[in-house]
Amino acid sequence: MGAVEKLELIGERGLCEVVVELGCLNGLGTLLDDLGVERPRSVVSNVTVGPLHGRRAAVAAGCAEAVELPDGEAHKRWSEVERLLRRWLADALHRGQSVMAVGGGVVTDTVGFAAAVYLRGVPWLAVPTTLLAMVDAAIGGKTGVNLDEGKNLVGSFWAPRLVVVDVTTLATLPERELRAGMAEVVKAAWIGDHELLELLPRPLDGYGSASPEAWQELVLRAMRVKAEVVASDEREAGARRALNLGHSLGHALEAATSYERFLHGEAVAWGLEAAARLAARRGLLSVDARDRLGDAVAALGPRPPLADLDADAVLEHLARDKKRDDLGVSWVLPTDDGVVLDQRVEEGELRELFAELQGLD
Ligand code: NAD
Ligand code: GLY
Repeated sequence: MGAVEKLELIGERGLCEVVVELGCLNGLGTLLDDLGVERPRSVVSNVTVGPLHGRRAAVAAGCAEAVELPDGEAHKRWSEVERLLRRWLADALHRGQSVMAVGGGVVTDTVGFAAAVYLRGVPWLAVPTTLLAMVDAAIGGKTGVNLDEGKNLVGSFWAPRLVVVDVTTLATLPERELRAGMAEVVKAAWIGDHELLELLPRPLDGYGSASPEAWQELVLRAMRVKAEVVASDEREAGARRALNLGHSLGHALEAATSYERFLHGEAVAWGLEAAARLAARRGLLSVDARDRLGDAVAALGPRPPLADLDADAVLEHLARDKKRDDLGVSWVLPTDDGVVLDQRVEEGELRELFAELQGLD
């Protein structure tokens, strides 16, 4: 085991502790006992993560019930939530007991939401196993599932009691997923920890060769940024919107390609590039800062192209963004030392920008 790092987030549901420790998954039972956290009654992962990490986490936590959901965003659906609820009912899981999610953002969002609605709410523990879930999805209490009409349209703010991060689980994560998660790390660094940009690993042979110690430092710092933002605005009335940096175009790209071309982080990487260009044009971002952000995004490596995408389809999805109000879509744009919220972007400007990005392929 390595050094233990802890963060504490006090939200409307009380204390959420975050423990970051190398190799801690195998000692989960002791860790829970030491923290005075009840052992979970049900451990839920998916068919990919289960054999790698979910089953050993369940054993370590002393939990006989290990459920494996189907893998993939397409299964982040109400029907899987219902399946979990009925399973827990059949097992007589009661209100004083908790459940644990082991997996990426799809698993943590789904299980967290099921926990929020089961018997009007039971506590849950999150064990994120993707970089993206460690630095983003598992922190901050947003849970939910998709509808045919769009992503994350049903959900709840239901923070986990505990988040346990063991970055050694990243050793089994495919390189493409690591790169996609790194986009959220770059986002977090720009929002609240510019020094982190200098620490980002740029291994020539891929992120897979970065050391667990390097991941631990990186994950902890990115998580800290998110935790600070969430602590100031849990329900996203204002400041939390900063976390949407790169997400306006990102979500539109994902939706316009039916969630099949881009991993979330890859679409966010394009979104960061777009936001940097818009901000520089508006004089919000100096040339030097634009280059620093652009370089950090470029260092993430190749991402699926835009050149063949229909600009009308992308713009239509942008116009339907969840972050719209009567004035249109509200963008978050980078500034030299952080971000600025509620920026409005006209359609003409967007068309020009999108054509520019398509030319970058
Ligand atoms: P994911 O959960 O689909 O995981 C990506 C892939 O990696 C999956 O195939 C998964 O089975 C596999 N995997 C997970 N851990 C692994 C490991 N250690 N080794 C090998 N394979 C592993 O995707 P994601 O990027 O983690 O999460 C994306 C989801 O998170 C989206 O649904 C998004 O909406 C959601 N999200 C939620 C929040 C939030 O605040 N709640 C924030 C960001 C994203
Ligand atoms: N991923 C954005 C948020 O948690 O608010």
